[in-house]
This record gives sequence, C-alpha cells and structure tokens, in this order.
Amino acid sequence: EQVRRAMDFVGARSAVLAVLRGARAGDRTRLLHWMRTTNDFDEFILSNNDVVLRSIAEDLRNCLPIEAMLNSENLAIQKILEQPKPTVHVDAFLYEDDIIDSLCEKGKMSRNYCVVCGSHKIAPLEFISHSFSLMELKFLYQYALPDLTGKILVDVGSRLGAVLFGGYLYSSASQLYGVEMSADFCQLQEMIITKYQFTDRVKVLHSDICTQASLLQNADVVVMNNVFEYFLDRLEQARAWEFISHNMRKKGSLLVTVPSLEESISNLKTDILLSQWVEEMKLDYDVYMEKDIDREALEQIHLYKIL
Ligand SMILES: C[S@@+](CC[C@H](N)C(=O)[O-])C[C@H]1O[C@@H](n2cnc3c(N)ncnc32)[C@H](O)[C@@H]1O
Repeated sequence: EQVRRAMDFVGARSAVLAVLRGARAGDRTRLLHWMRTTNDFDEFILSNNDVVLRSIAEDLRNCLPIEAMLNSENLAIQKILEQPKPTVHVDAFLYEDDIIDSLCEKGKMSRNYCVVCGSHKIAPLEFISHSFSLMELKFLYQYALPDLTGKILVDVGSRLGAVLFGGYLYSSASQLYGVEMSADFCQLQEMIITKYQFTDRVKVLHSDICTQASLLQNADVVVMNNVFEYFLDRLEQARAWEFISHNMRKKGSLLVTVPSLEESISNLKTDILLSQWVEEMKLDYDVYMEKDIDREALEQIHLYKIL
C-alpha cells in the first residue's frame, strides 16, 4: 500500500512538472505565481477540523487584547522588554499570517519598527508566541506523535487550550489534561470546552504543575511548549524541571518540548541527567508539505522517549 501511494505521489509530481515544462515561458511564470499564492488548493488542504480550530481562535481573539497577554503576567511582559531586539507578543494560534497582514494594513499591528523615527529605515520586529500555531499543532498530532488511541496527554501550561483542542480534533487521545496556573486563562479554556462540547475528553486544572505528581506519573504524553522560561524566575524554573523529571518516569511515555530539553535547562542549576532520563526521537521536519510552512518553528519541536 505504501509503495503504491509513493508511486502515486511520484507519478503525480511528474505530471505537474510536465505541465510546467510544457507551458510557454511567460505563462510558466504566471502559473508558478498562481501556484504559490492561490487559495484554489484550500479544498485539498483544509479539513473541517481546521475550520473548527479557526473558529475557536476567532472566539478567543474577541475575548483578549491584541497582544493576548494579561496584566497579571508581569514577569513575561518584563522579559519581552529585556530582549536584545525589539519584540512583540503575537499569539500564533490566534493570529495566522493572513490575519496579521490585514491588521497591519489597518495599522493595528506592525511587523516592523522604525529605526530612525520619521525615516523609511525600518527593521523587522521579533515575534514571540505563547501558543502553538495551527500548523505546529497539525505537525505534532499528524506527524510527530504516534496513534494516541486510549492514551492520556497532559499539556503543561495550557494557556488558551490550543494543544488540548488540537488534540481533541486531530488525535484519538482518550483524555487531554491542561494544567494552567493562570485563573483567567483557565476560564477562557472552560468557555471554549463548553461551547464546542469537548467536555468528554478535555479537562483543565487550575494549578501549579508542581502539585500534580500523579497526573505526570500517569501521562502517556506530556507537552511542554515554552512553559517556564517566560513565566518563572530561574530558581522556580529549575525546581519545576526537577519536579517534571522526578515524576515523568513511566517507561516509553513521550515528552514533547519547545525548545529542546538541553536548551531549556542549560542555564539552570538542576540535578537532571538527561542521558539517564530520556532518549531523543529525531523528527522528520520535511514530512510536512502544506504551503506557508514555518520550518524554523517546527525545528524547535523536540520529542523524547522516557527510558
Ligand atoms: C507558552 S504558554 C504554553 C501554551 C500552550 N501549551 C500551547 O502550546 O499553545 C505557557 C503557559 O504556562 C503557564 N505556566 C508557567 N508555569 C506554570 C506552572 N508551574 N504551572 C502551570 N502553568 C504554568 C503560563 O501561565 C503560560 O500560560
């Protein structure tokens, strides 16, 4: 079956290339431009689940300020101000590129900052997202993780619930638990869970992960997307990582992190010996072929198996 499908792909690709080779030079340029920019392929790419996730993102956008941060998140706001390059919060789950473009046109958002005020010298702003984008979620559930039928997944720091809702729609995990220390974000997640009737498989706990030992002990998959770095000071980060490593011990269970574990704990004083705790499972970042892929973002996603 796999060989047959591979042949189909190779055959189809040759056919597409033959059409391009057959076109006159001028038309070929136009054809390529159309292929790169058109929405005519959406029907092959967009599934109903994507539409549901986009609708959730729209509901959440309507409840949050444009930077999707809460006033209570002092530490995270402070850390952004301390970045070497001018940086803004843009939540990748809430704001896909086309939405950012239209907000930029309306002057509500900017991708650039003015280097010399009043001149045309501008430089790109750094964007920081506190959620996975739709593309990253699909990479996670459709390519990176194995079949999750009957499995328990825990998202540490579930924030807007992107990982939980993505898991509900794109995986067969039997339970998806989010643990989030911010009460306001827990409320937003609850609102979506109720509205979209995810209650049978999604649960959100308003809690510090360092009080959830048994949840971590029983999890088959734990997701940690930039959880601690922007939200805890270094001592708290070290303690939280130690808590995770002491409690995530089930052999064969999977840990997804952004950035890599090495990078996450490299500047912290911890008792964690990575080589005795986990084995990295190398991910194939090329397998994902939709247009507009942000490969740099995907390459930050790392998968580990607990030894
Ligand atoms: C970058 S967001 C992750 C969002 C989400 N998991 C995703 O991938 O879309 C990190 C979240 O972790 C939460 N957080 C940080 N430390 C935590 C802790 N010790 N316990 C629970 N939540 C925590 C923060 O409040 C923040 O909302």
